[in-house]
Amino acid sequence: MQILNNLFFESQQDFPYLTKELNEIFSDIILGGKIIRYKISKPKFINILASSNKKNIQNEIQMKLDQYANKKFIDIFKSKKNIAGIVSEEEKEIIFLEGDSAKKGKYVILLDPIDGSSNIDVNVSIGTIFSIYQRITPIGVPITEADFLQPGNKQIAAGYILYGPSTVLIYSTGYGINKLIYDSTLGIFSLLKEKIMYPSKGKIYSINEGDYNSFPVGVKKYIKFCQEQNKETNRPYTARYTGSFVADFHRNLLKGGIYIYPNTTKYPNGKLRLLYECNPIAFLAEQGGGKASDGNKRILDIIPNKLHQRTPFFVGIKTMVDKAELFINKHCYM
Ligand code: AHG
Ligand code: MN
Ligand code: MN
Repeated sequence: MQILNNLFFESQQDFPYLTKELNEIFSDIILGGKIIRYKISKPKFINILASSNKKNIQNEIQMKLDQYANKKFIDIFKSKKNIAGIVSEEEKEIIFLEGDSAKKGKYVILLDPIDGSSNIDVNVSIGTIFSIYQRITPIGVPITEADFLQPGNKQIAAGYILYGPSTVLIYSTGYGINKLIYDSTLGIFSLLKEKIMYPSKGKIYSINEGDYNSFPVGVKKYIKFCQEQNKETNRPYTARYTGSFVADFHRNLLKGGIYIYPNTTKYPNGKLRLLYECNPIAFLAEQGGGKASDGNKRILDIIPNKLHQRTPFFVGIKTMVDKAELFINKHCYM
């Protein structure tokens, strides 16, 4: 059995594209994921599922679990030497690690500690999204913001842990997508499937249609196309939207579909954050033969200028994203 746990690989040869250093970072991510999964599954921790009544940098109400997960991951990474700094959705500024790590750590990590916060207290799937880059400032000097503002095509690894009916880790180091499942009795993740690819055809579209009136015309037209009798499926596409981006992406990856969060009146640049939501998911989508776009261009080629910058996001089966782009280009984006 191919196993990945929080201490070591039992069979390193089964994960040939994970270097020893990356292996250590993954072990840290897995440790955080195991703790979060434990917390949300125990009645005695039910209090952690409530709102904290505080807002984060994005002016969004933080749930206690957002704060808990954020702190837990930071504490875990802080105690390690190979990570030089962290960017988190829940922190305004970069977290520069102290001492040797900041100067010698080869990697920086970007995190959405809990994606799908609005689903925490209603027992719907949530996740942790991560993105890893090699630093560009030389080893020996402190890292800078430039280490985090790299385009997504420079990611060396990305993935998510999905806390659903089962807990799964989906990740890629640029050699296909791996899927591991958590066994809580043994406390380990074991490899279920390698080289996951999108199905060749899809029929699911995931978008918050409650915002329909404030969508760009091209997006409205694409939704109408999804609702028509479709030549391929002989019926309209199926709408599925949980409000947990990571869960919607996961379903669409396995069953075939497209996820869209366009610009809206409330979110003129889209809602999702480029660095720790869209880039890691775009990296996975491309590894699975899919496509990720902002409606016009490739997500992974966007040069970021702000840590918490947002972008419209279209991700899924390539032909579906191509079609959505066609509607956008034909009807103009705004
Ligand atoms: P987060 O919980 O990290 O703030 O992300 C929430 C995101 C994403 O998971 C989800 O798809 C989207 O917000 C839902 O937004 P709407 O409620 O506007 O549809
Ligand atoms: Mn999120
Ligand atoms: Mn979040």
